[in-house]
Amino acid sequence: MTKKTLSTEPYKGVRDFYPDDQAIQNHIFGVWKTVARRYGYEEYNASLLEPTELYTSKTSTEIVNEQTYTFTDRGERSVTLRPEMTPTVARMVAGKRRELSFPLRWFSIPNVFRYERPQRGRLREHWQLNADIFGVESTVAEVEIIALAYDIMKAFSAKNGDFEIRINNRKLLNTLPNGAIPLLDKKTKMSSEEFENEWKKISDTPFTLSVDEETRGVLDKLAARGITNALFDPHIVRGFDYYTGIVFEIFDTDPQNNRSLFGGGRYDNLLELFGDEKVSAVGFGMGDVTIRDFLETHGLLPKTISATTVMLCPLSMEFTETAETLARELRAQNISVAVYYGEKKIGDQIKIADKKHVTFIIVVGDEEKNSSRYTLKKLEDGTETAGTADEIAKKLSSV
Ligand code: HAM
Repeated sequence: MTKKTLSTEPYKGVRDFYPDDQAIQNHIFGVWKTVARRYGYEEYNASLLEPTELYTSKTSTEIVNEQTYTFTDRGERSVTLRPEMTPTVARMVAGKRRELSFPLRWFSIPNVFRYERPQRGRLREHWQLNADIFGVESTVAEVEIIALAYDIMKAFSAKNGDFEIRINNRKLLNTLPNGAIPLLDKKTKMSSEEFENEWKKISDTPFTLSVDEETRGVLDKLAARGITNALFDPHIVRGFDYYTGIVFEIFDTDPQNNRSLFGGGRYDNLLELFGDEKVSAVGFGMGDVTIRDFLETHGLLPKTISATTVMLCPLSMEFTETAETLARELRAQNISVAVYYGEKKIGDQIKIADKKHVTFIIVVGDEEKNSSRYTLKKLEDGTETAGTADEIAKKLSSV
C-alpha cells in the first residue's frame, strides 16, 4: 500500500505567514495602529463568524451572492465568515448606542474572507484596517477620515506623487439613471467600447458628472491641509449599497499596481437596520495585500526585520552552558538573545545568523568562560566591542 501524503500548500487563496512574512505584516499593522491612535481612534474587535442575515439586508449584492463563505451550523443556523467589517461594527455600535459617548472613533484590523478568483492584489482572505467615525453629520468627518488615510501613506514614507485619492459623491450618482452605479462599478473591468454600449442601454445622453459643492468643499479642506493629491473622479462608486454621501478610494499611481489601496465613504443609514435611530458614520477599509504590493513596488519595505538582536555562538557544545548564563544576563536587561544549539562550526553559525538578519553575534569559548569578558561583533560591518555582560548590555541598549 502506498502512503498518501498531505499537501503542504495552504487552502487556495489564503496565506501562511512564515516569520519573514509575519515580520512584514507586523510592520504594516504597527504603522496602521500608530497612526490610528495618533488620531484618537480606539481599538475594537469581534468574531469572524456572523449570522448570514447581517449581510443579506444591505450590502453589496455581488459580495453576498457570489463571494461569501456561508455554511449551516449543527443547529441549522446559516453562518457567514465576515466578508467585511462594516456590518459588524454597525451592529456593535447599534447594540450599545445608548451607553456610548459620540462621536466614536474606532479602529480594528480584522481578517475578512471573500470567495474571489485569487490574483495579484486579490486573495480569499485578507486583513483590513477599518477606521470609522460615528455620530458626526458634517463633512469634518470625511476630512478627518481621509486625512488619517493620507497620514498612513505618509507614515509608510509614500510621497504625494505615489498615490491618488479619488473622491465622488453618492448623492450625485443617485441622480443618474437606474443601473448606472452597478455599471460604473464594473467600468474598470470593461473596454471603453463595452462601457459605451452598456451605457446606451440605460441612457440616451453620454455619461458626464461634474463636481458638486459638498465634494468641492472636502477637496478644498484637504488641499488646505497639504493633501494635494485628492481629486474628483466621477467613476468612483464603491460596490456597497450602504453608502449615502462622499465615497473615496486611494489608488497607486504606478500602473504596475493599479489597484485600490483603501476604499470608504459615508454610510448614514446602516445603523437603522438595528433599530429606529439614525447614526451618521464615515470610514474606510485598507487591505494588507494591496498595501504590501504598494510598498514593494515603491521600494518602501524595511529591508530586514529581525526578531533577534544577538546570537550567541558556542565554539563547541561544551560552551552552551556558559552561553546560556550570558543569555540570561542579557535578557534580564531586555535584550533579545538566542543561543545557537547544534554542532555546526562558528563559520556556519554566522551564516545562519546572517540569514536570519541577526544584527550581532558573540562567540563563546574557553577565553570567555574564564574571563567573563565577551566580544560583540556587528555582522554588517565586522565592528567589535569588548566588555563584561553588563557593558555589552549597555552598548546594545543604546543602538
Ligand atoms: P472594500 O473596498 O471592499 O471596502 O475593501 C477595502 C480594501 O480592502 C480594498 O481597497 C482593498 O485594499 C482590500 N481588499 C478588498 N478585497 C480584497 C481581496 N479580495 N483581497 C485583498 N484585498 C482586498 C470595504 O470592505 C468597506 N467595508 C470599507 C469601509 C469601512 N467602508 C466604511 N468603513
